[in-house]
Amino acid sequence: MSVDASNALLSWYSVDKRSLPWRVAEGEWPDAYRVWLSEVMLQQTTVAAVRPYFEKFTSLWPGVERLAVTDDADVMAAWAGLGYYARARNLLACARTVVAHHGGEFPDTEAELMKLPGIGRYTAAAIAAIAFGRRAVVVDGNVERVVSRLFAVEEPLPAARATLYALTDTITPDRRCGDFAQAMMDLGATVCTPRVPKCLLCPLADQCAARAGREPERYPVKAAKTARPRREGVAYWLEHEGEVLLVRRPASGLLGGMLALPTCGWSGEAAPPPVAAQWQDGGSVEHVFTHFALKLRILRAQAEKRPEGIWWPIERLEEAGLPTVFAKAAVRGAAE
Ligand code: ADE
Ligand code: SF4
Repeated sequence: MSVDASNALLSWYSVDKRSLPWRVAEGEWPDAYRVWLSEVMLQQTTVAAVRPYFEKFTSLWPGVERLAVTDDADVMAAWAGLGYYARARNLLACARTVVAHHGGEFPDTEAELMKLPGIGRYTAAAIAAIAFGRRAVVVDGNVERVVSRLFAVEEPLPAARATLYALTDTITPDRRCGDFAQAMMDLGATVCTPRVPKCLLCPLADQCAARAGREPERYPVKAAKTARPRREGVAYWLEHEGEVLLVRRPASGLLGGMLALPTCGWSGEAAPPPVAAQWQDGGSVEHVFTHFALKLRILRAQAEKRPEGIWWPIERLEEAGLPTVFAKAAVRGAAE
């Protein structure tokens, strides 16, 4: 991409950028803590979903020191509903490392950032560029789509990732690198959209190979998908005097560290019900995870006695911070 095209994109961004709570006025530097938090939340998650969580986290924990001293359970509960819960565990580990080993200041190079928990190549590049103005090659899903179109890349994803990264490197400018990265993301989100790109509004239209070929929506080419496997499992809803039995899931693995209903069966394990009781069918819920779709059957019972465990008042269950699949199951369990 020529210098002219990169300037055209930056001019477009100055006028048409999305107003997002982690952005600051042109010419100001954003706080690295807020950039880091937003980029971790935006991994695999849409801007619309992230917005209210970002507002909540920054009002509860305005800086990295405050986050670092917070209990794990409080952070996990605040994260509930955002998904990919390993991110919340890494978020805390990262905040604590920044405070313990970096004097509460985020490092300002990609190499140092990548040593921190939960910060991979993309996030390190995004923070280095956006918070510190370093030249870094920032490639997320939106950027992949725009670049695959600009260069009409025929190689299918995911194999094309390395090519798309190298092509993005060739068009990344030395200055306003954070703005350039975010301009590419905004262009992908608002103009160069997946199904019907608005090429007439695009500042890069003159440079775009896919537009010249008249089929921009054909890119990025994707390898044929394999069907998502389906799994089935059971969640137990055990009530006693207005409270329900919850468990904290093991720290590693799916939904690790989160509060949940006791379950069995969906990772292949056979766990007995939490107590012997008159279990009754409570219907089922469906939930789609990245690697499988789950049908979760709900079994309900009243406990005669109250076995050891985490008992939570049913009326205040929304405060427990259940991940979405269990929030759905709880609606079933609490019915009647
Ligand atoms: N997606 C990931 N990071 C983003 C950012 N800084 N702005 C907009 N969308 C994004
Ligand atoms: Fe995307 Fe069209 Fe712009 Fe090409 S011209 S980058 S396809 S919006």
